[in-house]
Amino acid sequence: MDRPAILFVCLGNICRSPLAEAAFRFEAARLGLDVEVDSAGTGGWHAGNPPDPRAIAEAARHGIDIAGYRARQVALEDFARFDRIIAMDLKNLARLSEIAPAGARAKVSLLLDHVAGLEGEPVADPYFGGPEGFEQTWREVEAGARALAEQLAH
Ligand code: 4NP
Repeated sequence: MDRPAILFVCLGNICRSPLAEAAFRFEAARLGLDVEVDSAGTGGWHAGNPPDPRAIAEAARHGIDIAGYRARQVALEDFARFDRIIAMDLKNLARLSEIAPAGARAKVSLLLDHVAGLEGEPVADPYFGGPEGFEQTWREVEAGARALAEQLAH
């Protein structure tokens, strides 16, 4: 099988989707999965910026360095380049469905739809809250990343 390519998408690509990318890279490595992984935002305001310092700190608490990540906006080419595009919440999912070209390669889904019992749930946006929000974000993206990696491994 070809190497699967997975793109994680939130709004700004500085909080949730970089953490999802980091958690998924970690889980894929743990399972020995050969995958291409990236993240992007439906919005472009933060393009070129590193992740939010609170996201960098949260990843570091789990031994993962995401300080070198840079935000970018989702591009139409992503629908041809990736097999799976994984949205963090329903707004991002709706936006992706709106811009998806007809006959796109990528299958779009919600991250927590991959976790039994959490179907339809969003990864809460921690941007306007305190640092404790990022702990919650990590728990959610980690659960989603683990479930998705396990599905792809079988
Ligand atoms: P993210 O969080 O979508 O998880 O990266 C946000 C980042 C920036 C903004 C909102 C959410 N913003 O309004 O700039």
